[in-house]
Amino acid sequence: MRVGVLTGGGDCPGLNGVIRAVVRRAVSYGDGVIGFRDGWRGPIENDAHPLTLDDVRGILPRGGTILGSSRTNPFKRDDGVERIRSGLAAHSLDGLIAIGGEDTLGAAAKLNEAGVNVIGVPKTIDNDLGGTDMTFGFDTAVQTATEAIDRLHTTAESHKRILILEVMGRHAGWIALYSGIAGGADVILVPERPFDLDDICARLERRFALGRHFAIVVVAEGAKPKGGDVAALGGGVDEFGHARLGGVGQRLESEIQARTGYETRTTVLGHIQRGGTPTAFDRVLATRLGVAAMEAAHEGRWGMMSSLRATRIEMVPLSEAVAGLRTLSDEDLHVADSLLA
Ligand code: F6P
Repeated sequence: MRVGVLTGGGDCPGLNGVIRAVVRRAVSYGDGVIGFRDGWRGPIENDAHPLTLDDVRGILPRGGTILGSSRTNPFKRDDGVERIRSGLAAHSLDGLIAIGGEDTLGAAAKLNEAGVNVIGVPKTIDNDLGGTDMTFGFDTAVQTATEAIDRLHTTAESHKRILILEVMGRHAGWIALYSGIAGGADVILVPERPFDLDDICARLERRFALGRHFAIVVVAEGAKPKGGDVAALGGGVDEFGHARLGGVGQRLESEIQARTGYETRTTVLGHIQRGGTPTAFDRVLATRLGVAAMEAAHEGRWGMMSSLRATRIEMVPLSEAVAGLRTLSDEDLHVADSLLA
């Protein structure tokens, strides 16, 4: 058997761990693996090369992806599906393992319906993909954001400032919630719950009244005020229709400073939380998901995605995984609510 593998969308720590696991499991079967470069651009333009054990040696601790990534959408081209079919045929592939988030796997599900053999592996630091309890990359991003909060704490206290940390999280506030809890933030703002500036400032004032003259606010880039819009940077949208988000921290900064009188500053964590070496947890999860995906490919179980369900790795239909995003529920937010009350 021969399979292709690609990584699409925003990169995240652990992608190389999946690629390595796919190649090593394939080799143990006697199967061959071809790596496509830059997400769906690879099979569309037939940009590919064989992946051997040598190619994946030493990549487990490396962030990013040795295959490169892009936000190429095959369905934005009239001949996208046909070109992918030809790309696979050119290398005599039985099918493809696509490692990606909502966009890459959304395209994978549609391709599978069109008769292209695909298996998905869920990735995103945002942790918002359906059909799995967790995605790799998230744990590393939370670790990085938590370290940032710890550092902000000491300087916030020295200068009696309110420091805002803007983290990623387009549709879901998983990174903000987990790093906010782990870092002991005073206010956590997420896309799932539009915020009210009066509430935020009242909470901060209560803290100051208790003699704590500094505070930490963590805000997800996709958080927005009640009745308002998300803060987007210019530059149009990508091939999947997403605008570049950013700026909610700055907006909060001026409002909070004007209302509380406390000096307020913003740090935007940005791509720092997407880069760097994966945590041990993400390396293990990436490896388990990669092994399961290759085993499913070997068995011809196309149209499925490897997923984490509680502590077990299971295969779920790709269609189920992309049916809806996994956002925060009130239950998920309960612990933070209780601590912040
Ligand atoms: O989907 C993951 C993500 O990190 C989002 O939280 C963020 O909006 C987006 O990627 C940013 O992508 P890019 O770096 O390509 O602009």
